[in-house]
Amino acid sequence: MKLLEDRIHKDGQVLGQDILKVDRFLTHQVDYQLMKEIGKRFAEVYANAGVTKVVTIEASGIAPALYAAESLNVPLIFAKKAKNVTMNDDLLVTEVYSFTKKLTSTVQISSKLLEAGEKVLIIDDFLANGQAALGLLDLMKQAKAEVVGLGIVIEKSFQDGRQKLLDEGMNLTSLARIEKFENGKVIFAPADDSAFDIN
Ligand code: G4P
Repeated sequence: MKLLEDRIHKDGQVLGQDILKVDRFLTHQVDYQLMKEIGKRFAEVYANAGVTKVVTIEASGIAPALYAAESLNVPLIFAKKAKNVTMNDDLLVTEVYSFTKKLTSTVQISSKLLEAGEKVLIIDDFLANGQAALGLLDLMKQAKAEVVGLGIVIEKSFQDGRQKLLDEGMNLTSLARIEKFENGKVIFAPADDSAFDIN
């Protein structure tokens, strides 16, 4: 998505070998206009997939996922990393290991929110090693929901998450695919939605 790639060039900051800081529009401060365009793009790509729910994981996946849900006119569910006192229903639970944070967290969704056979579009902000996405796939499998697609805002294509998800047979749409960092600059690979870009 050209609009997103342009914004990454403008406001993204390369940290070390493999981290992109995007706290001016995605992971801390959120540009709702950009998020709305991102949500619309996911909705365009999956317009004919019969999506009944959008699913993401807290925290930074929520903003783009909410606009995708709005555009598809379906509810958004976000998997929670901490169980709170109101979560007294049956829970679908999985473990997600974060290579970035070097810790494992338990993530959960109330089982009553998803019915067997629902068609789910998973959205997340970053795809690195794929652990968060694989965790969400596991939750969807437990719910007997069908994952019709996986929409990623920023994929770091030099890490192995993409391959793991393709190996799972996923239909993957990454709006920005980072091939590498070179002298502090971001070099992009062709994005999965490039056919939808006007220019
Ligand atoms: P994975 O889910 O693909 O395996 O990724 P990994 O364990 O490496 O990433 C863990 C967390 O770090 C995720 O956030 C992910 O979005 C984020 N992350 C990974 N690479 C980058 C990067 O280059 N830049 C930024 N800004 N974030 C990155 P999280 O802890 O699950 O959630 P959140 O609460 O921060 O949204």
